[in-house]
Amino acid sequence: MKLLIASRNPHKLAEIRAIFNLPGMEIVGAHEIGGLPEVLEDGRTFQANAVKKAVSLAMLTKLWTLADDSGLEVDALNGEPGVYSARFAGEPANHTANNVKLLSLLEQQENRAARFICVVALSSPGGRAQIVEGICPGRIIRETCGEQGFGYDPIFVPDRHEQTFAQMDAALKNQISHRARALKLALQTWGELLGQASADWPARRPKLRDTREA
Ligand code: IMP
Repeated sequence: MKLLIASRNPHKLAEIRAIFNLPGMEIVGAHEIGGLPEVLEDGRTFQANAVKKAVSLAMLTKLWTLADDSGLEVDALNGEPGVYSARFAGEPANHTANNVKLLSLLEQQENRAARFICVVALSSPGGRAQIVEGICPGRIIRETCGEQGFGYDPIFVPDRHEQTFAQMDAALKNQISHRARALKLALQTWGELLGQASADWPARRPKLRDTREA
């Protein structure tokens, strides 16, 4: 079967291809199917954005579709930047400016606890969606450290580690990250369903919670 990934990000696609390595499964990125619109991420939660992306593209293409939405929640900022992680310092999205803003807001703060969250949504071709979530807890350090990765990687140290995501080997980050955790859970939760979908859909319609109102 074909599984559409509602993302044009080559890093995400590679990660999803590596984890969703099921027999008979063909993974296609949104850029590989012509004419698909960019879905506006205007939800107030990761869940709403992931479901919106998955359901919109599934209903347009009539393909099973997987989408994710992720970001950083900082305890001392009541969960900010959250869904606004990409544009925390304003438009256009700028990772360096986001890190500078976050470090300055936390300058006087002793509480450095934070977590990356990733919500993955799967939509059937008819627009029924389910979600799973991956969390990577950690802390925000006081200065940027490391050159790898993207986004808030240079200021985030995951629990039980001493290095920031930006100092770590990509392979290690990809084992413990919020995205890896969500994708592994997605595979555990939906692997069987997707295998059946290729053979039996729609005759054996699987039970999916309808989250279109989420
Ligand atoms: P999106 O899920 O690609 O829309 O990610 C939203 C934003 O969250 C990114 O632009 C980053 O600022 C932040 N983010 C999400 N995942 C990571 C990560 O693994 N490392 C660093 N920043 C991340």
